[in-house]
Amino acid sequence: MCGIVGYIGHRESYPILINGLHRLEYRGYDSAGVALIDSGSNLNIYKSKGKVNDLESVCSSRNISGSVGIAHTRWATHGEPNDINAHPHVGNASNIAMVHNGTIENYAVLKEFLINNGYTFQSETDTEVLVCLIEHIHTSNNCSLYEATRQALQRVVGAFAIAVIDRRNPDTVICARRSSPLAIGLGDDEFFMASDASPIIEYTNRIIYLDDDQIAIIRRGTAIEVFNLDNEAVSPSVQQIDLDIAQLEKGGYPHFMLKEIMEQPATIRDCIRGRIYDNGTKIFLNGVNHFKEKFLNVNRIVIVACGTSWHASLIGKRMFQELAHIPVTVEYASEFRYGTSLLTPNDIVIAVSQSGETADTLAAIKMAHESGAFVYGICNVIGSSISREADTGTYIHVGPEIGVASTKAFTGQVTVLAMLAVAVGNLRGTISDAEVSQIATAISNLPELIGKTLNLNEKIEDLSKIYTYVHNFLYLGRGYNYPTALEGALKLKEISYIHAEGYPAAEMKHGPIALIDEMMPTVVIAPQDDLHDKIISNIQQVKARGGKVIAVINENDREISQIADDILEIPSVPDCISPIISSIPLQLLAYHIAIRKGCNVDMPRNLAKSVTVE
Ligand code: F6R
Repeated sequence: MCGIVGYIGHRESYPILINGLHRLEYRGYDSAGVALIDSGSNLNIYKSKGKVNDLESVCSSRNISGSVGIAHTRWATHGEPNDINAHPHVGNASNIAMVHNGTIENYAVLKEFLINNGYTFQSETDTEVLVCLIEHIHTSNNCSLYEATRQALQRVVGAFAIAVIDRRNPDTVICARRSSPLAIGLGDDEFFMASDASPIIEYTNRIIYLDDDQIAIIRRGTAIEVFNLDNEAVSPSVQQIDLDIAQLEKGGYPHFMLKEIMEQPATIRDCIRGRIYDNGTKIFLNGVNHFKEKFLNVNRIVIVACGTSWHASLIGKRMFQELAHIPVTVEYASEFRYGTSLLTPNDIVIAVSQSGETADTLAAIKMAHESGAFVYGICNVIGSSISREADTGTYIHVGPEIGVASTKAFTGQVTVLAMLAVAVGNLRGTISDAEVSQIATAISNLPELIGKTLNLNEKIEDLSKIYTYVHNFLYLGRGYNYPTALEGALKLKEISYIHAEGYPAAEMKHGPIALIDEMMPTVVIAPQDDLHDKIISNIQQVKARGGKVIAVINENDREISQIADDILEIPSVPDCISPIISSIPLQLLAYHIAIRKGCNVDMPRNLAKSVTVE
């Protein structure tokens, strides 16, 4: 949530900052702003409600010179999205400017303290409180900007990734983080700062990720210095990041979401590369191999996640129970972190997160560590906070997901969970080598079968015409595809704003059936699995009440073809990996309905990709 960018070096900073904001716009897009120090030490700040394009219009006739600057794209927490609440914010003397991603929880107390010291505030934000606190310490203690920022951050409760500049010292940027991510790119005599590596990699692939409670002094042209908040020097490790710029572009597609749906044959190939071997018959995961004892002695697995990642986790639960005979609970990270966990050192906590930055999931990991539990991370973003906090883990390797609605990350997560459950089951002797080989072969065939499933695109585009103006949708599934139903409903509601609910099909008769009429279509995910007969009865119950049924079925399923109003045929795969195929038509259905409604599918209202606040 919120993206921050900074630059200091020998180039004009504005184009770098704007380009960076476009790359980070997925993190929030209700307002944006930039602060630049020009050669006359003037601090020029421009802000705008709306998207980065709106900010560019504001800046088009202004002085945008300066080789040091900071910028921000916002997802509002404190104060509505408008020009005043947009970042950067300045201290009362208008010398110091700051951008911030996170939430200052004790801002009210700090604000009162500052008001008592004569400070006034323009905005409703917690960020303005922090920059004023830095200014107050800077002037009253007559200390450096670094020292003032360090002391101010010691008084802060909450999450922050910040970049601070002072027009009287245009050769320095101060950065710091706690809980919100911050990457610093090391160029030749120039430095780039951003919430993730995407705005940086076109200039340098050498990146430092600050750790929690670290603060960096970045001086023009020299090396950076990093300290902890107790002022002790730390030596950060520099990572080489291999990210292809093409992965950050739409590549000819009208939207990132469609590109990300369509590239799933390739992303699943990347996800399984090197992990399935011996002609596709065996599965190897480093994280399992290095920690065999943990998986052999595990008492139970607790999976923590949010949103789409939580849906993938529900599928993972069924896999672990069926294939590895380990009891599993799946928890919303936000609930888990404030509950009684009863974790023991023999429990394994699996944290599933595309971004690897979700605040609640990170907090759940910290709680797991405090109980002595072993933490396994399943993340997409390399070097992300969750991947670093976990004891070990597996990257899903599906490449940057920029569309706010998760698609390829979901299928990547389910694929990794399947490989993990099979590898652990094999280690524990709960599934035979022959069963491993059967599932591994099926996983190896997924890219081809996903490609085949994507051929439904035109049919679904056509189908979307009928359903664009519906107000409510029901999604039903059973077994492995109950979470697929939840995920299909979430996709539709988040990008088309149509109300949709997902249910285990048999639960329908315990309440939701009351809603069914000819105005409320039901999407039923009904592959030919063990529960096929049962779900046919559920379809009949909908039809008997005049409801329309769109059924996702295996090819040549005559029985359901005859009773459903519309069918979407998908290839048949083993039950446990069926959601990887069956979720794809649901992604396309949500996409086409939302496009027909004229919605911005890549940046749906009120949402942000990386939820770094509670
Ligand atoms: C929905 C979606 C969200 C995320 C959730 C968790 O399409 O993307 O529900 O799944 O915010 O995010 P991560 O996986 O980054 O922890």
